[in-house]
Amino acid sequence: MLDAIIANDLTKTFLTKKRRGRLPFTGEKIEIKALDGLSLRVKEGEIVGLLGPNGAGKTTLIKVLSTLIIPDSGTAKVNGYDILKEPVRVRESIGVMLTGERALYWKLTGRENLLYFSKLYHVPKDLARQRIDELLALVGLEEKADELVENYSSGQKVRLSFAKALINDAPILFFDEPTMSLDPQFSRRIRNTIRWLNEEKGKTILLATQNMFEADELCHNVSIINQGKIVIKGTPSELKTKILEKKSIRVIARNLSLNTIFNDNLLNNAKWTIREIDDGQSIMLQAIVEDKESALSELLDMITRHNGKVVNVTVSEPSLEDVFHYYNINNEPS
Ligand SMILES: Nc1ncnc2c1ncn2[C@@H]1O[C@H](COP(=O)(O)OP(=O)(O)OP(=O)(O)O)[C@@H](O)[C@H]1O
Ligand SMILES: [Mg+2]
Repeated sequence: MLDAIIANDLTKTFLTKKRRGRLPFTGEKIEIKALDGLSLRVKEGEIVGLLGPNGAGKTTLIKVLSTLIIPDSGTAKVNGYDILKEPVRVRESIGVMLTGERALYWKLTGRENLLYFSKLYHVPKDLARQRIDELLALVGLEEKADELVENYSSGQKVRLSFAKALINDAPILFFDEPTMSLDPQFSRRIRNTIRWLNEEKGKTILLATQNMFEADELCHNVSIINQGKIVIKGTPSELKTKILEKKSIRVIARNLSLNTIFNDNLLNNAKWTIREIDDGQSIMLQAIVEDKESALSELLDMITRHNGKVVNVTVSEPSLEDVFHYYNINNEPS
C-alpha cells in the first residue's frame, strides 16, 4: 500500500507575547513548541487516529499538512505532493474539517456556503448541486439548508463543516474532533459516515479526537501525541496489549480530603490520578499499575491511616483511555 501521508521531523514553534494580569502585553515572548520533531505515516485507505491532550499539537499538525501553516523545519508529503513545493496539489487532494470552524460564512446560508466552496474547488455546477443536496442529507441539515449559518446551533455548524470537508470529493480527509459538540445520535451518525467514507469510498482519513471510544471503534492505527511528539503508536489492540500486563485500578473513598492525599507521600510510587467525584463527598483514585496487589494494599493502608472509608474498588483490563493516560502521564517513548 502506498503512503497517503508522510511527515518527517516536523517542527513548529509559536512565539506568543506574555500579558501580566490586566496590564498590556509586555515585550517578553514565550516559545511554544507545538510540533517537536514529529514524524507520521498514513497508508492509503487507512483511518489513523491522532490522540492527545489539549495543546498536544494535533490541530497544528493538521494545519501544517493542509498547507494552512508552514512548519519551521521538516518535510511532509500528502498524496505524493510536497506540502511546501506543491501546496496547490496538496489542497486539491484533501478535504479538511477544523474545530471552531471559522471558515464558514455566517452571513450565508448552509447551502450557499457549500456552493461557494464547490466553486473554489471548481466542482462543475450540476455536479455541485447534486452533491450539495446529498451532503445536506448526509449531515441532516436539509431543513436548515436555506437559513443563515449565524442562526445555526454549534452542533449544526459542526455538521455543516463536516459536509464542507466532503465538497471536493478528495481522496484524503482530515477531521479535527468531528464529533465535538454533537449529541450522541449525531456523533454516531458522523462516526458511521466516517467508516462508510473509508470502507465504501476508499478515503484515507486522519482523525484527531479526544474520544477514546471513537478512536477504538474507527481507527486502524492510532498515534498518541504529547508536547508535539508522537509518544506511542500502533493498532488500538496493540496499544492495549502493550499495557496488558498492567491493570487499571480505581478506588472510591470517603472521609478523605484531597489535601490529605496530596500530603501523603506513600502514593508517590504509583501514578495516581486523583479527583473529587460529583457527590462532593467522595474521592476517586485511579492508576495503571504493574503490581496490583502491592499498589492496592499501599493505597488501602493510606486510606485507613487517615480514617477514610473505601466505598468501591475496581480492577480491570486497561482500555484505550488507560493507555492514553498511561503514556501521557509517564511520557515514555514508544
Ligand atoms: N497561532 C498560535 N499562536 C500561538 N500559539 C499557538 C498557536 N496555535 C497553537 N498554539 C499553541 O501550540 C500548542 C499546540 O496547539 P494545538 O492547537 O495544535 O493543540 P491540540 O492538540 O489541537 O489541542 P486541543 O485538544 O486543545 O485542540 C498549544 O500550546 C497552543 O497554545
Ligand atoms: Mg485542536
